[in-house]
Amino acid sequence: MTSIVVVGSVNLDIVATADRLPAPGETVTGAELGRYPGGKGANQALAAARLGADVCLLACVGKDAAAGEALAMLRAGGVDLAACIAVDEFATGVALISVAKSGENQIVVAPGANRALMPEHLAIPAADALICQLEVPTETISYAAKTFAGFFCVNLAPARRVDVTVLQRADLVVVNETEAAWYGDSLAACNGMIATTYGAAGAVLQKNGEDLARARPPRVQVVDTTAAGDTFTAALAVALVEGQSPQDALNFACAAGAAATTKVGAQPSLPTRDEVMQLL
Ligand code: RIB
Repeated sequence: MTSIVVVGSVNLDIVATADRLPAPGETVTGAELGRYPGGKGANQALAAARLGADVCLLACVGKDAAAGEALAMLRAGGVDLAACIAVDEFATGVALISVAKSGENQIVVAPGANRALMPEHLAIPAADALICQLEVPTETISYAAKTFAGFFCVNLAPARRVDVTVLQRADLVVVNETEAAWYGDSLAACNGMIATTYGAAGAVLQKNGEDLARARPPRVQVVDTTAAGDTFTAALAVALVEGQSPQDALNFACAAGAAATTKVGAQPSLPTRDEVMQLL
């Protein structure tokens, strides 16, 4: 079984689903309210587990009721949470998410305890791959890049400055088109593969500026795009580490990401391997 370590965030997502997203300064009413486990790190950990990997999550939560809610699906999904730390000084991370009927969203994150995940907390076990994102301190990501020996994947989301050594070290960098534009020429420092996602238009996998694969997702009824990028990232890393070809791995990741858009909420929407195979 493929073993994956995820270093990243845990949030409780408070989700309002409305007809449309508000413009700045506008109030939209009539929404349905939901609470779901989320956070890019937690989503990627559970996505990898549902796709069949053996997953361990290194993260920080607060000592509060939200922590139990935020970790419940990871626990039920078999993710190893032994290295998740409950800290005194911060509350569990919270994401306020507005979702429109079209499936588009807006997210504001209050990181809380995710700010507390520092290098000294990381006892990184040996594994086939490590996946991280940028909702935890960047020095922690730099430390993981330096000390982990296996396949290293970084999802550069949300976009923020990272040490160039992280880009140089990464075997796989994942960005969406907005993040790709934000990073611009600095992505030229990447020595490994870069996957760029374009929503319903699919994704491209490149290395040294050359295309390795291009794929389009299957057509699905989009309900909520939250965690589609997280699912894509986990699926691509799992498939590449399993030894799938770049084209097969990208097809698999696009189908997994599409599947995640068909249900409301981050973690409730993460597909199993069987669900992805049915879409392919
Ligand atoms: O990528 C989706 C995630 O981003 C949400 O679950 C939310 O918690 C934010 O971190």
